[in-house]
Amino acid sequence: MSYLETTAQVYAEAAETPQVGLCCVSTPPLQLPGLMIPEIMHQMNYGCGSTVHSAELFGEPTVLYIGVGGGIEALQFAYFCRQPGGVIAVDPVPEMRKAATSNLEVAAQENDWFNPNFVTILAGDAFELPVPDASVNIVAQNCLFNIFEPEDLKRALIEAYRVLKPGGRLIMSDPIATRPIPLHLQEDERLRALCLSGALTYDEYIQHLVGIGFGQIEIRARRPYRLLDTQSYNLDKPLLLESLDSVSFKVPMPEDGACVFTGKTAIYSGADPLLDDRAGHLLQRGIPLAVCDKTAAKFALQFPQDVIITDSTWHYDGGGCC
Ligand SMILES: C[S@@+](CC[C@H](N)C(=O)[O-])C[C@H]1O[C@@H](n2cnc3c(N)ncnc32)[C@H](O)[C@@H]1O
Repeated sequence: MSYLETTAQVYAEAAETPQVGLCCVSTPPLQLPGLMIPEIMHQMNYGCGSTVHSAELFGEPTVLYIGVGGGIEALQFAYFCRQPGGVIAVDPVPEMRKAATSNLEVAAQENDWFNPNFVTILAGDAFELPVPDASVNIVAQNCLFNIFEPEDLKRALIEAYRVLKPGGRLIMSDPIATRPIPLHLQEDERLRALCLSGALTYDEYIQHLVGIGFGQIEIRARRPYRLLDTQSYNLDKPLLLESLDSVSFKVPMPEDGACVFTGKTAIYSGADPLLDDRAGHLLQRGIPLAVCDKTAAKFALQFPQDVIITDSTWHYDGGGCC
């Protein structure tokens, strides 16, 4: 079997017999006023972090959700979209589609605002999404793309880029590795399917997104999620995995490279009230300005005495300058 077939088998089993904490899950699901998440969806929460950020969900967007799982995030997105077909959820595993359909029916009994026709569940996979070019505002995936080998990840990202409208957003939550995962673990198909051994490092992950053409990437959260210990995983030293929540924008690539926001700020501390770098950035003395990592590096080089660059907070949700 290929690792993709192993993955489909793992999730067919996980659809038929919910397995609490099967793969990621280190954060409680997003709670919202008037939203009741059915118990079965909690049990089938196979994601890490969250892809549902209210700030992205203005103006009734159309959401394409890849890898529906038990439907928990499809329901959360529907909370914001609230229109028939507002969320399209794609999954190649028939057992998972059946489970999600049934779980969404339970959700409709527990939430008066929700109608199951707000979510359209379609057969399909991340490499061939069943929607036209430039047709959705948001593509989201939680804890799926990390399973893909690099060439497949590239295919899945190209496909996500294809279906996004200009300006659209790819919202992802995935494990990343704090150092490259050794080959003997990467090649273990079951561990890979369980989101434990396919993770890329942060730099590799971001490079994949930039390589596809996403001109702006924002990190919403980065936190520890699993430790691969030496005994269970046959390692010389423990290996920490983190989960990374990100939003990548389908906007033109700036000439000097992508803007990646990780929560850094630039603070001018010189003698004048303002610093104008003549490249579109105006710093007021003492006032932090959110900047992307590229601009932070330029400031650090250009004004080593007068501009302080604060560390990445790994939480950025708007404002500032690229
Ligand atoms: C780790 S689970 C995550 C489920 C869901 N996103 C969540 O947060 O609970 C991975 C999901 O992706 C689906 N899947 C597996 N292979 C896929 C593929 N090639 N394309 C799209 N979805 C796939 C699985 O059936 C499963 O529903």
